[in-house]
Amino acid sequence: MHPGEVDSWETDYRTGNMPWDCHGVPSALVEYISHAAGPGRVLIPGCGSGYEVHAFHERGWQVLAVDVTPAAVARARTLLGDLADKVVLADFFSHDFGGRRFDLIYERAFLCSMPPTRWTAYARHAAELLTSEGKLVGFFLYGHEDEPPPYPLTDEAALAVLARNFTRLADEPVTDSLPVFAGRERWQVWQKKGGAN
Ligand SMILES: C[S@@+](CC[C@H](N)C(=O)[O-])C[C@H]1O[C@@H](n2cnc3c(N)ncnc32)[C@H](O)[C@@H]1O
Repeated sequence: MHPGEVDSWETDYRTGNMPWDCHGVPSALVEYISHAAGPGRVLIPGCGSGYEVHAFHERGWQVLAVDVTPAAVARARTLLGDLADKVVLADFFSHDFGGRRFDLIYERAFLCSMPPTRWTAYARHAAELLTSEGKLVGFFLYGHEDEPPPYPLTDEAALAVLARNFTRLADEPVTDSLPVFAGRERWQVWQKKGGAN
């Protein structure tokens, strides 16, 4: 990460400047978890407040959530109470996951928080961390932004970046987005391609 990036996130969490924070579990995820095959192992990178940890856990999933910002991790741990140990202070890109592979990686507002120059590394690393049948699921931001961040995808960018390692199985509009994402969020399920890493 660039120097100062964590400081900037830290300030946002400390001052409550979190327009992306949904203060709960998004309904499309609730719906997905209720029907998803599993449970298995799920990774939540850039978890922020980590509301989803509880949602996965109560359905029997083994959850690991990581965030690079101390104030985010502190907030998530406080909110999660008994599940606090599911949240680790770590950089998604450099953390040693100890060779563990995940059945699911849950994405929300993490990919769009980083500039396009990092998207290929994100997709490659996500594929590396998934089992051969693993899926990358969640909320993806598409469209245009005059003053990023957030950095929305375009269909062309998604094909260039994600479709190298994944096949898209689902793509649905999201109707209950927060104002900062309204009309631009899509619920998507990406299956890891055979042999991708
Ligand atoms: C826009 S917030 C979204 C948080 C959360 N996913 C949500 O939906 O509320 C992006 C989060 O990614 C975290 N982050 C940024 N770069 C990271 C990295 N390399 N590894 C882990 N977390 C990172 C930030 O600290 C921040 O909490």
